[in-house]
Amino acid sequence: MNLTDKGLKIIKVADKQEGGKKAFELIKEALENGAEVFGLATGSTPETLYKEIRDSSLDFSDKKAVNLDEYIGLAPDHPQSYHTFMKEHLFDMKPFKETHIPNGLADEETEPNRYDEVIEKNPIDVQILGIGTNAHIGFNEPGTSFESTTQKVALTQDTIEANKRYFDSEKDVPRYAFSMGIKSIMSAKKIILIAYGENKAKAIEDTVNGAVTEAVPSSVLQQHDDVTLILDEAAASKLELN
Ligand code: GLP
Repeated sequence: MNLTDKGLKIIKVADKQEGGKKAFELIKEALENGAEVFGLATGSTPETLYKEIRDSSLDFSDKKAVNLDEYIGLAPDHPQSYHTFMKEHLFDMKPFKETHIPNGLADEETEPNRYDEVIEKNPIDVQILGIGTNAHIGFNEPGTSFESTTQKVALTQDTIEANKRYFDSEKDVPRYAFSMGIKSIMSAKKIILIAYGENKAKAIEDTVNGAVTEAVPSSVLQQHDDVTLILDEAAASKLELN
């Protein structure tokens, strides 16, 4: 483990299997230290972590999960919804007392406030994050205010391209999502950001060594005092680590 001059802890791993195990150890430790609310993420990155949790004997049946985001327009039971992703990767096998995910079919005016109330009532103890190739966290695209709370966001073309692999074609990728805001993410007590692969290397370099700017959403993490990055060699390849 290295400590960068910005205070972010960095754990380098060989691959996503080892990354899943390291992230699992941190989740286990948080659980043992009394964490009640787990902020969870979707995407391919946390899949190996969820497998470790599924295969473990850890008990989350009196814990709560609060997810980052959901596509607008997809019903919870849509195969590509983040509700479905979470059920298939975690919740069906590892029950939580409560699980919260924005509702992609809800009223666009009221859903952000409803979700902010969920977050307010359930302060997040540990937040898992992946990262977009454009450094988005949740679906908070470059330019999103660091003061943002839950809101409707327009996905950038980069994100649509990156996420089209889950859909039949690019035109099926929703153009909007509800996303927990950057301020809400920053209110988590502990943050674990995981990234694998060369296509994340630039975003990781900017996160760790770049200017703190709304043009790079993940750079806000430099202002948090408990962030651990779990990176494979390729994602860490633009960092100079000892
Ligand atoms: C999506 C999600 C993000 C995720 C990102 C990276 O856009 N909203 O939360 O971090 O994709 O996805 P992947 O882990 O598949 O690279």
